[in-house]
Amino acid sequence: MSRGTTAIINLNNLKHNYAVLKKLAPNKLVLVIKADAYGHGIKQVVQTLGTIDCYAVATIDEALLIRKHNQKVKILLLEGFLDADELQTALANNFECVIHQQQQLDLLKQAKPSKKINTWIKLDTGMNRLGFTPEQFNQALTALENHPNVNDIVLMSHFASADDNNDLTQKQTSKFLHQNKPYQRSISNTAALLNNKNLSDEWCRVGIALFGVSPLRHKSAKEFNLKPVMTLKTNIIAIKNIDKNQGIGYSHKFISKKAMEIAIVGIGYGDGYPWSLTNHAIVKHKDKTAKIVGRVSMDMMAIDVTAIDCINIGDPVLIWGQDDKSDLPIEIVASHAQTIPYVLLCQITSRVHYKYV
Ligand SMILES: Cc1ncc(COP(=O)(O)O)c(C=O)c1O
Repeated sequence: MSRGTTAIINLNNLKHNYAVLKKLAPNKLVLVIKADAYGHGIKQVVQTLGTIDCYAVATIDEALLIRKHNQKVKILLLEGFLDADELQTALANNFECVIHQQQQLDLLKQAKPSKKINTWIKLDTGMNRLGFTPEQFNQALTALENHPNVNDIVLMSHFASADDNNDLTQKQTSKFLHQNKPYQRSISNTAALLNNKNLSDEWCRVGIALFGVSPLRHKSAKEFNLKPVMTLKTNIIAIKNIDKNQGIGYSHKFISKKAMEIAIVGIGYGDGYPWSLTNHAIVKHKDKTAKIVGRVSMDMMAIDVTAIDCINIGDPVLIWGQDDKSDLPIEIVASHAQTIPYVLLCQITSRVHYKYV
């Protein structure tokens, strides 16, 4: 029997979600696959989806990994280049670059690149992270327009709360549209697209929805016909009978109120499962729900299986995602952990086995 802690990546669901999003989007679609495709594997995602409209990533290394597997697809660097070397790498590999600050314009000017570069100029409409202020924006745009090697220009910005703050989203949209320039635009992420806050002709930049996860608190991924791409499972590695009034696990954070049967499952914070889920979350054994009892430790945790018949060492347990018996949305696990699904997906550690199906 193996510990069996496995992230199963369903590539058919990935393709399905891509088709759903492509239909929903008003124009071309940028697939955001930074942080190893939100923990799903950049290489496998690119090999599965191939040449799409555009991929976007945060770092040069992520962009190079995509290029290794696809020579011709558009690749957007969401933070642009951070120094002269990165600019040269971007030019050599035909990466498109977000230009969000003066230092990048200076680097571009000094480099006198021999190749053309496509740029996405970023306006800070209220996120206060990257981007030119509205006051700086026109001058920056003029610099790009006058640069002999700048080819296409896209105007972009980024929503701060498209999941739940209508006023802020509205204000950001107005500021963005106020820049009345004859260029392609891009502002929406998944939340904006699913919430119908996107512009009618923009390039939406979508990440989390591609992986079958909804960032909206009151609308599940299922409501948008999105399917979970990652299923995380593990196995039962031990079963124990516990008397009444016994403490379970580190610091005895759970005390049994009655005699109970517990199963020890092979996943813990060393695999990326949140320690904060101590006494909090549920897992699934076939179609039955079992609660975590006691602290999540580094390699394992205990679940209450008193009410479940036919429990055996080696049985699989669903941590999140979907199997043939039941499902457990990652959004629910994230809300128990008072975090967001993005974090859970990105923090899975390297000792978890990945299986692509
Ligand atoms: C600039 C930018 N655009 C788009 C996205 C995609 O966001 P989401 O995964 O919520 O669709 C991100 C993700 O963080 C981002 O940083």
